[in-house]
Amino acid sequence: MPKTNAFTHRLAIFASGAGSNAQQIINYFKGRNEVNIALIVCNKPNAGVVTIAANENISLLIIEKETFFRGNAYLDELRKHNISFIVLAGFLWKIPQLLIHAFPNKMVNIHPALLPKYGGKGMYGHFVHESVLENHEKESGITIHYVNENFDEGNHIFQTTCPVLADDTPDSLAARIHILEHKYFPEVIERVLIDLED
Ligand code: GRF
Repeated sequence: MPKTNAFTHRLAIFASGAGSNAQQIINYFKGRNEVNIALIVCNKPNAGVVTIAANENISLLIIEKETFFRGNAYLDELRKHNISFIVLAGFLWKIPQLLIHAFPNKMVNIHPALLPKYGGKGMYGHFVHESVLENHEKESGITIHYVNENFDEGNHIFQTTCPVLADDTPDSLAARIHILEHKYFPEVIERVLIDLED
């Protein structure tokens, strides 16, 4: 990535859970002046990602439904931190229009299956993997996509697959998919950021 001004891209990572993807992204961009993980945004004060933010010394914003959906979607706070790009990494709330319009093509999500299958409202975490197994799919994988106003429907940026094994459980499949997520999500984010510089 070309060395431009310090902290050209200021990322906010939105997450609701353990935050293993957030951690990988933080590690990947550590010490890189052109990308700064500036903010962790979380709707669950006791989520694992909150601890990650503290350990990594990254600002944390805990959000509440009322402001997110019926207020200004925390746009002022994002602006205060000069956020230029948003990464959804296991964030379970729908993104309000206001935010989508404020970050056009500057918001990406990762989904633990091969969209357009196994996406949409309620399709997250183990529900995704259970459905994949119930349907006897031979393969699953990950989809990284832009975020639009519908759950999991934005344009795809990247997909890759892994096998579904005969003796898989939702947990074993989730573990295989996490490996893919951790390897590819930071690299794909980097590529999207480079494209924004053109
Ligand atoms: C990942 O599987 C991601 O695809 C999905 O939520 C999960 C988050 O896991 N959207 P973690 O919190 O990053 O460990």
